[in-house]
Amino acid sequence: MSSHRILTGYRPTGKLHLGHWFGNLQNMLRLQHDYDAFYFVADWHALTSEWQDTSRVYDFGREMVADWLAAGLDPKLCTIYRQSDVPEVIELMTYMTMVLPMPWLERTPSYKEQQANITNKDLSNVGFFLYPALMAADIAIVRSDLVPVGEDQAPHLELTREIVRRFNTTYREGTLVEPQALIEKEGARVPGLDGRKMSKSYGNAILITDPPDEMRTKAMACMTDPARKRKDDPGDPAVCPLHQIHKLVGAPDDIAQWERCCAQASCGCVAHKQQFAEDLVRYFADFQARRAEIDEHPQRIDEVLEAGAARVAPVARRTIADCRDAIGLDGPAT
Ligand code: ADP
Ligand code: TRP
Repeated sequence: MSSHRILTGYRPTGKLHLGHWFGNLQNMLRLQHDYDAFYFVADWHALTSEWQDTSRVYDFGREMVADWLAAGLDPKLCTIYRQSDVPEVIELMTYMTMVLPMPWLERTPSYKEQQANITNKDLSNVGFFLYPALMAADIAIVRSDLVPVGEDQAPHLELTREIVRRFNTTYREGTLVEPQALIEKEGARVPGLDGRKMSKSYGNAILITDPPDEMRTKAMACMTDPARKRKDDPGDPAVCPLHQIHKLVGAPDDIAQWERCCAQASCGCVAHKQQFAEDLVRYFADFQARRAEIDEHPQRIDEVLEAGAARVAPVARRTIADCRDAIGLDGPAT
């Protein structure tokens, strides 16, 4: 195992869907074997946008951990914890905001973008504005030196690096670790039932915990190649959302067969949907069985989170002690 410490966090703002499963979770499963992996439930981050209705944040967080465990994250290999169990994160964020010029936050692309695009929530709060500073503190508190980021999070990581450099130059070189981006091969971008990106906010998602019948109903409602109006029209699997999702859960030989018969107009979309539905249910059967087991023993989630918090605590306390010393808060810097 490499000695690099990687870190990634997920906001508990909904249930996990196939986009999360194929886009992220598969990478997390792989990376736990290669790195000292820290995976956390970003519940404070969820608050920044869900502050008006916080009723589901706690449950979504626990469900996420249950999903992670059932999917195969192994607490013996990786550290799973909840952000709000590590109060030092906030102390570090406070120190980081001292060296953080306001314009750096103002120009974060995600800030402007989300404020413009998300109209059903009030995002004019300072908490949301500080989001990237909180993320910087998440990374620096555990001295993570490699952060797997996709395109959407890359500017936040860049900002983290700038804050860390400024902190170190201002107070003491080497106090905080400057993280590098771990550029992952692009996770599959999973389309939703309507062909747009699968997303909880579009109502087009198949949840990994949907009961089999729900999965079947959704599969039968999945969009296909819109240009294929009749069964004898040849279809184009490359633009068929059904096919794109089926590829992820079906056997390669079957997939090749459906591709051929679709292009030759020798099979119909309804039959394809039925096959997709069954493959989908089969693909998630083991996961769902393990998930049901965890649901019967919810204290397992508490144990994992407690053990995770206990593992993070000494690391976090050490970082804070170094910061306080570098700043000189407890007397002249040593
Ligand atoms: P949603 O769009 O459902 O609100 P989130 O914003 O919670 O999803 O997504 C968290 C992470 O999951 C994102 O950073 C992204 O990498 C991944 N993800 C979400 N949806 C998809 C998708 N359809 N395909 C691939 N990855 C996805
Ligand atoms: N900002 C990430 C998101 O919106 C979640 C996150 C918070 C994170 N802190 C992080 C990701 C630290 C990587 C590292 O999905």
